[in-house]
Amino acid sequence: PLTATGDVVGAAAARRAAAAAFNAVQLEHVTAILAGARAANRPVIAQVSQNAVRYHGALAPIGAALLAAAAEAEVPVAVHLDHADDVALLRQAVALGFGSVMVDASAEPYAENVRITREAAAYCHDAGVWVEAELGEVGGKDGVHAPGARTDPDEAAEFVAATGVDALAVAVGSSHAMLTRDAELDLELIARLRAAVPVPLVLHGSSGVPDDTLAAAVRAGLTKINIATQLNKVFTAGVREFCARHPEVVDPRKYLGAGRDRMAAEVTRLLRLLP
Ligand code: G3H
Ligand code: ZN
Repeated sequence: PLTATGDVVGAAAARRAAAAAFNAVQLEHVTAILAGARAANRPVIAQVSQNAVRYHGALAPIGAALLAAAAEAEVPVAVHLDHADDVALLRQAVALGFGSVMVDASAEPYAENVRITREAAAYCHDAGVWVEAELGEVGGKDGVHAPGARTDPDEAAEFVAATGVDALAVAVGSSHAMLTRDAELDLELIARLRAAVPVPLVLHGSSGVPDDTLAAAVRAGLTKINIATQLNKVFTAGVREFCARHPEVVDPRKYLGAGRDRMAAEVTRLLRLLP
């Protein structure tokens, strides 16, 4: 069933475990995420980013499909808007029934990040919607690998108090869109952030983090683990292999289905590997 994001993340936090959040770009990603979570028998967060909304031209076509699929799912599924800085889009997500949003003003100077995040959080909270924000910009979204950013624990605590957000994305060594899985996380910083910040911490750019480091980072204090590129890699490999083996096939259900099945298996594997 469609489940509140705060419930999924809160349950993970209470066990010092992780809630995995997977990005859906298209309908086959949605069904892969839900099938993978069902096979692992684990709750899951399915998220759509502002960039994916741009790809579709509007939130509703992919957003309403995701909400409908979540409502019918056999495991708890939370539906989240990822990396949004467009206030109109945040409002659309709230109106459509999304359980949570990420207000991403992390590229702004600190005071501006606080102002934008505080205003958006107040609006979302009035509607009962859970809010994630980011402090200390995790790199890579512009295609430039940048694992050097770090979030300061004292500033993070001040930011959460000033904005009232429900979760905070932090920069601890990951970078978005990595194709290799060799990022080194600052586990000691994660522990210091965990001690300083009263809300769940979120890891972005998790695709570049090796399996064992991901598990260690959760034990050190991260609660929501965002994974996108790793699933795209697996999906695309499945499509490529199918098309190479069956060059005569033109039915998209055949090759997209091959990608979807591979992605579902990777969702299950990642859910099982996370504490
Ligand atoms: O917000 C989404 C995540 O940060 C995904 O990052 O594509 O590097 O796994 P990734
Ligand atoms: Zn991200």
